[in-house]
Amino acid sequence: MSIQTIMVIGAGQMGSGIAQVAASAGRRVLWHDLSMPLIDKGMLVISNQLDRNVAKGRLTEEAKVSILSRIQLTGAIEEAAQVDLVIEAISENMAWKTALFQKLDGICPSHVILATNTSSLPITEIAAATTRPSQVIGMHFMNPVPVMPLIEIIRGLETSQHVFDAIFQLSKELGKTPVEVQDFPGFVSNRILMPMINEAIFTVYEGVATVEAVDTVMKLGMNHPMGPLELADFIGLDTCLSIMEILHEGFKDSKYRPCPLLRKYVKSGRLGRKSGQGFYTYS
Ligand code: CAA
Repeated sequence: MSIQTIMVIGAGQMGSGIAQVAASAGRRVLWHDLSMPLIDKGMLVISNQLDRNVAKGRLTEEAKVSILSRIQLTGAIEEAAQVDLVIEAISENMAWKTALFQKLDGICPSHVILATNTSSLPITEIAAATTRPSQVIGMHFMNPVPVMPLIEIIRGLETSQHVFDAIFQLSKELGKTPVEVQDFPGFVSNRILMPMINEAIFTVYEGVATVEAVDTVMKLGMNHPMGPLELADFIGLDTCLSIMEILHEGFKDSKYRPCPLLRKYVKSGRLGRKSGQGFYTYS
């Protein structure tokens, strides 16, 4: 199955990165969000990214114009009827996602694949909200999407081999490395990454070391590009907390209990880079 037209839903960081990568790989992209100002802002982010690539000699001006021309902004979700694949990248809220998938199920012809970029919600449960669970799959991109080469491809319980193969192939054509993962809490990426971040927060909470010291140990000692606390701010502390809660609830194992300091920061509105303050302060 050839996937040529993709609807991306969600104008946040992930949706913007996915739209950019798909259009750069020659796909026609319909980019939908309920908020048109948000999606206009997202388009500016993509345009600036591409300008940077032109300035660095990695992209011609013509190629940039051509990529941008392949992205069409739309406020009408009904346009999902004309695509081969929908990639949902809205907030990590199960009720919103299932409502959206139900709606898409009613709009899209039966061959259309519905993918979710969820970082930790169960694909099988999202799929169960539709009448086509065999056509539903997880495509977990990493942030920043244009830079990070991985996509976790998550099979729901009912995902068909045909759909899995089509999405695996598409991911390669997007210039990414797909990795097959089964549908269990946190998949692979967040099952391993989030406990590390949570443990880094415990290390600060227990007074073992400062924020800067913890990050320096992991950057210089383990060659991580960002320390775990800087990375937590980058991902969003609310997202980190929600993923830890999903792991804790999903495995019923106390090793996944979220650090009280993480909870405290989220409750106070310190959400990381996006709110201007997390473990670090951003101007
Ligand atoms: N969008 C597009 N490109 C970006 C970007 C963005 N948001 N941020 C940085 N880049 C590009 C820059 O343009 C630059 O490219 P060139 O040098 O080729 O021009 C390159 O990335 C490096 O950027 P910088 O020099 O500004 O900074 P850096 O060397 O510190 O790299 C980084 C930035 C790529 C983000 C790097 O710090 C990194 O890899 N950090 C770890 C990121 C990570 O772990 N991501 C996964 C998060 S977890 C997740 O996404 C899953 C989840 O479910 C929570």
